[in-house]
Amino acid sequence: MMHIMDHTNIAGPWFTVILVSITVIIIVSKVSRARTASPKMRRPSPPVADGAPFIGVIPAILTKGLLAVLFDQHLKLGSVFTLRFFGLLKVTFFVGPEVSSHFFRANESELSIGDMYKFTVPIFGEGVEYAVDHDTRNEQHRFYAEILRPAKLRCHVEPMICEVEDYFAKWGECGTADFRHEVDCVLMLIASRCLLGKEVRENMMDKVPKLLHDLMGGFHLISVFFPYLPTPAHRRRDKARAKLREIFSRIIKSRKRSGQFADDMMQFLIDSRYKDGRPTTESEVTGMLFGLLFAGQHTSSVAITWTAALLLNHRECLRAAEEEQDQMVRKHGSRIDYDILMEMGVLHRSIKETLRLHPLAPMMLRRVRTGFTLRSKEGCEYDIPKGHIVASPGGVNNLLPSIYKDPHVFDPDRFSPGREEDRVGGDFAYTSFGAGKHPCLGEGYAYLQMKVILSHLLRNFELELVSPFPKPENMMSMAPQGKVLVRYKRRQLIHHA
Ligand code: HEM
Repeated sequence: MMHIMDHTNIAGPWFTVILVSITVIIIVSKVSRARTASPKMRRPSPPVADGAPFIGVIPAILTKGLLAVLFDQHLKLGSVFTLRFFGLLKVTFFVGPEVSSHFFRANESELSIGDMYKFTVPIFGEGVEYAVDHDTRNEQHRFYAEILRPAKLRCHVEPMICEVEDYFAKWGECGTADFRHEVDCVLMLIASRCLLGKEVRENMMDKVPKLLHDLMGGFHLISVFFPYLPTPAHRRRDKARAKLREIFSRIIKSRKRSGQFADDMMQFLIDSRYKDGRPTTESEVTGMLFGLLFAGQHTSSVAITWTAALLLNHRECLRAAEEEQDQMVRKHGSRIDYDILMEMGVLHRSIKETLRLHPLAPMMLRRVRTGFTLRSKEGCEYDIPKGHIVASPGGVNNLLPSIYKDPHVFDPDRFSPGREEDRVGGDFAYTSFGAGKHPCLGEGYAYLQMKVILSHLLRNFELELVSPFPKPENMMSMAPQGKVLVRYKRRQLIHHA
């Protein structure tokens, strides 16, 4: 879940400082690893991109952007290649579904996700996720998978709809809104109701969202490499985590004492049991809730904002999405439930296409624990040794012309029955929600909340983008840069049946 994605908030010079530092770490670990080197592998290493001595491809990345450099090297070197940063830091990229199978299917003992995401420990706390051994993490992911399965998701639709209707009822007849901010607010209300429960929703909305903001906002690119550096943001994060743990422990204790049932994710995590019968502890429940919020809030907010911006910038796609809502209303009246949301194919494909163009995990990373041999699309065999960092660049894979026709064009219909370019492209052609051993466990929940919000806006407002179409924030980030300002005017799209 802890992909390198859009929480990052960092400018070029920091990137350089960080890469210097990580190189030092790698040199140290290489020297110590040299003593226990694995038996020599027989095939060549993947081709390495040219670059200036020591600094490698850094200048090109700073001028053109990482994705552009990856595209160039893919054209030059093929589907498997290595980029060098500051001498010893090397990352090997696998471009395209033909070379991605091992990346997504390998076990933790072969390719480790846990080694890459240790930086989340100070956010979620000890006892959960990447702070625990692989078996315990698997069990905790089993709890997630259980809470987030379709049968369990149904009960969240009504509360989601109530929150969305109440929130946008406060918009007047017409006005201009900072779209991303509005979506963040409504997602927080949904999360407090569906994840955290009524104690937070009813009594603590003045402090919990602010604390959660400090907890998640303490994550910057520098946190990936130095999660415990005493920066002001890290200090705020640590304080917020301590306060939130106190608040949630009190709620959990009180729920356990009273024995009352609640229909939210916190309750399910309280009631979950490990295979040996051990119940979850208060700090585990709290850490897992942080994990779900970290994985789901920012991602959904950014995805909704990009989807709205793209629809408003493509009138014919917007019309198709509005017509679909119109049809839904003719068929079902103004009611929305889980099954009706599932029927919204045009909206679904618009979001999916948005996430193809703006994947929130433009780079998924793993560390090689067991060396392996990989055959490139071009037919060359390469040895990828233990200790290497490997990457699946979703930002490149999603734009391959061999898979997607006119890949830079926003065309939700490419996923329609009869075309389904991602399916035709084969497994791992579309990985905006991960794949294989680590698929996004919250995909269904994310689509539900995104569709509830967007369908409400399509039904009730005429929207217009008044700021320029946004650019992605920076080279590691896919969030829209600056404010996305939207003018709205209330309307009755609805043709009652
Ligand atoms: C638009 C919204 C979202 C996007 C684009 C997204 C994307 C992803 C991606 C790409 C991964 C795989 C990361 C990797 O392999 O390194 C992932 C994993 C995960 N996501 Fe999401 N996600 C979204 C929303 C959510 C939500 C709402 C939740 C929970 C409520 C969630 C929970 C998870 C979890 C638990 C994992 C970890 C799976 C594992 O490590 O085995 N996600 N997500």
